[in-house]
Parts: sequence; C-alpha cells; structure tokens
Amino acid sequence: MLCINPRTAAACVALAAVGWSAGFMTSPASAQTYPSKTITLIIPFAAGGPSDTLGRITADHMGRTLGQQIVVENVGGAGGTVGTERAAKAAPDGYTLFQHHTAHPAAQSLYSNLRYDTRTAFETIGLINTGPMVLTSRKSLDVQDGKSLIAWMKQQGDKATVAHAGVASNSHLCALLLMQIAGSKPSLVPYRGTGPAMNDLVAGQIDVLCDQATTATPQVVAGTIKAYAVTSAERLPALKDVPSSKEAGLTGFDMVIWNGFYAPRGTPKPILETLHAALQKMVDDPKVIERFAQTGTVTFPKEQRSMEAHRKLLESEIERFAVMIKATGMKQEEAK
Ligand code: MLT
Repeated sequence: MLCINPRTAAACVALAAVGWSAGFMTSPASAQTYPSKTITLIIPFAAGGPSDTLGRITADHMGRTLGQQIVVENVGGAGGTVGTERAAKAAPDGYTLFQHHTAHPAAQSLYSNLRYDTRTAFETIGLINTGPMVLTSRKSLDVQDGKSLIAWMKQQGDKATVAHAGVASNSHLCALLLMQIAGSKPSLVPYRGTGPAMNDLVAGQIDVLCDQATTATPQVVAGTIKAYAVTSAERLPALKDVPSSKEAGLTGFDMVIWNGFYAPRGTPKPILETLHAALQKMVDDPKVIERFAQTGTVTFPKEQRSMEAHRKLLESEIERFAVMIKATGMKQEEAK
C-alpha cells in the first residue's frame, strides 16, 4: 500500500492490516493455517449441468478432506467466459477456486476480447476426469439412429433446433461438428449451461443436444431422451446400447473433453500443494471412480496428474484449438 500523505499514514497502516487479514495478500502464516474459512468454487455454467454436477462432487469431497465447507457458485454466461473472468480476478488467497473444462482453452481463440489470458490467469492444480459427449434428441423425435438423424436435420434445415451452452462450450463445439458432418444449418439455441438445455430437451422444447456423458447418461438410462452416438471410438460401459460414432456411421464425430481444477494466478505454492493433495485423495477414492464410471467418465492415470502435466495439457489444447479454429475460418465472438 502506497502512503504519500504523512497525515494519513496511521489510517493507511490500519487499512494495510485489514487488506492483509482479508486475504488481499497471503502471509506465510495464513498459508500454514489454510483453510480457515469457507471456500468458494466458481463453476462457469448453470446449475444442473455436467460442470455443476462434477463441481458438487469435488466441493463435497475436497471440503471433507480440507475440513472446511466449499460452496459452489454458478456463474454462467458467454460459453463459460463470464465465470472464468470472475475467477481470474479473485484474490489469489485460496478462498476462491475454479473448475473448468475443454471450453477454457477453446475460448482463447473463439473470443476476440477476453479480459484475461488463459495461459497466465490461473495456477493449474490438477486434472480431474475425462469422457466423451453423447448425441441426444427429445424423446418424441421420430428418428431411430444417427444416420436418420442427419437426414432429418438436412431435411428440416433451420426448423431443427440444437441447444448449446454458449460459444466455445463443449456442447457448442459438438453442435458445430455435427453440423459439419450433417452439412445442415439448424437453429442454434444458446443457454447458460446444458443443465437448463437438458430440461428443455426432456420437456420436448428443443430437438437436439450434444451433452457430456456426465449428465446425458442418467437421462438416457431413465428413457427421458433418445441417444444416437457417443463421440468416442468405443461404447461407454454406462451406455452399452448407444453406438460409438463409428458404429453409428458418423465418421469424424469424435470429441473427448477433460476437466481441471484451478486457482487464480499468484496463489501461494503451499496452498496449491494442499489443494493438489486433496484433489489426489478424491480421484483415488474408489467411490468417486465408481461414480464417474456410472456417468461415463474416467480419472487420469497417475503420471498425468501433476500440476505441471495439467499446465502442459492446457497449453497444448490452446494451440490445438487455435489451429483447428483458424482452419475452419470460424468468426470470433465479443466477450461480454
Ligand atoms: C455445463 O455444465 O453446462 C457444460 O459443461 C457446458 C458445456 O460445455 O457444454
């Protein structure tokens, strides 16, 4: 804190002390006693979707390990970039954390004016899990397989509606892939997350949604929606009756997503190590592994779980999306 006027120096010292204890700066002592109060976990999509579902598992498990409550805050909008900006600008004191997926590196190329730099805004704490997307439709759609869905979309043109969670989100990228394969231009309907999009699909108000296996699986199993393909080379054990993209005749309809755990840049190393250890405890827990399996996702092998491996994956994904997005000539969005 800069104190120029000597007459206000005492107040300035007092303010500095408040700033210190409020966590604007983190002393070595506070890193040692971390965490001593409730932690907020920012999820950049609406409640009820796959990011929220995973965030709540993580908050519960890591909260129990750390001995402090972790409260999930859903900050949806603009394909996850609104919540990402909020997390990037939070105090780097370990009390605001962030979970995001493949849309994080994709957004770097799909938005022209992000107010954070994906490469430098966050400390990487570790990778959580990975899994495919599932191509689904409302139950009442009179289409029985992937190829017929493509034919139906071609015939419907912009009368067909495809939901997604905003530009750069997984559901948006998956919708674009589907449109490329189908050679059709349906009406794209943006939501603040696939939680509300899935509600509308179940209610029959939207035709098609490509969502992560995490939240698509329980609906498919319950028979509330139809599934045509998983975006992977193999079927999912949790969805044995749903064909792989190849089996469904959807060549190139392949997409794997991953989730990672972050803290704002500058969070002290001892705090990052505490969080990394708590995250490892969670991904090693057989109950969590079983829960992930039921929703079609798996944890990463041990050698890919370090904070450095997470950073390397993030950086390589930023490059991969930059090349891919340039090649498709996609237009960039303005960040909100
Ligand atoms: C969500 O939780 O809403 C999804 O992760 C959004 C998406 O990327 O499709």
